[in-house]
Amino acid sequence: MIGWSKWEGNMPTSVGWSKSQVVLHWTTVALVIFQLFIGDAMSAAWQARQEGGPVEMNLGAILHIIAGVSVLLIMLYRLYLRRTHGHPPRPENQPKWAATLGAITHGALYLLLLAMPLSGAVAWFFGVEGAANVHEGPLRIALIAVVLLHAAGALVEHFVFQSPSLKRMLKPES
Ligand code: HEM
Ligand code: HEM
Repeated sequence: MIGWSKWEGNMPTSVGWSKSQVVLHWTTVALVIFQLFIGDAMSAAWQARQEGGPVEMNLGAILHIIAGVSVLLIMLYRLYLRRTHGHPPRPENQPKWAATLGAITHGALYLLLLAMPLSGAVAWFFGVEGAANVHEGPLRIALIAVVLLHAAGALVEHFVFQSPSLKRMLKPES
């Protein structure tokens, strides 16, 4: 058991990520990128509704809702898998500051990927304008910033520290 942070330290450790954890990680990546690009279509449907017009659901808006709700369910299941299956230990050839930054980034990703679909759903299903503003404003910007930091961190880990993080997120434990 590693004790470098409460968030990681409370979870069981495993040899590597399971096949489900790896598949769900990369499925989330694809869905989140899709969401960021299709968001405009959802904004158009939202604007039309706010201006008092009929709710015209374009295909992009329907897909945005389906993909967003899928991200919410996947993130809840990933947290469950983290508790039951666990997570691999901190790589040895990784400085402590990088491990701490990684844990904070991962925690932020979980929070943002729960808050993003929840705020979108509250906006859309209950017509709450404030939730829409938070969704398309601060949460969207924070998500993009944290995802970029995370992806850069994964590459630094791999190429600079030569830690096994990226390899084990590509190849599940056997
Ligand atoms: C991971 C999940 C999600 C991500 C990353 C995401 C991302 C985005 C982005 C990038 C925009 C466009 C912002 C803009 O260009 O102005 C947007 C708009 C919007 N999304 Fe989502 N979304 C997610 C889930 C959802 C869900 C589940 C719903 C509803 C059930 C939803 C409802 C909305 C609404 C109503 C808008 C329009 C907000 C506005 O223009 O003020 N989103 N979303
Ligand atoms: C939308 C984009 C992304 C999201 C939402 C995301 C989300 C996450 C989350 C939440 C974790 C933590 C898993 C846990 O500790 O339970 C994680 C781990 C990881 N991610 Fe991402 N990720 C994204 C993109 C990427 C990209 C582009 C890369 C590679 C360049 C990457 C590489 C990794 C690696 C290597 C780990 C495991 C770290 C370790 O084993 O210590 N991710 N990701």
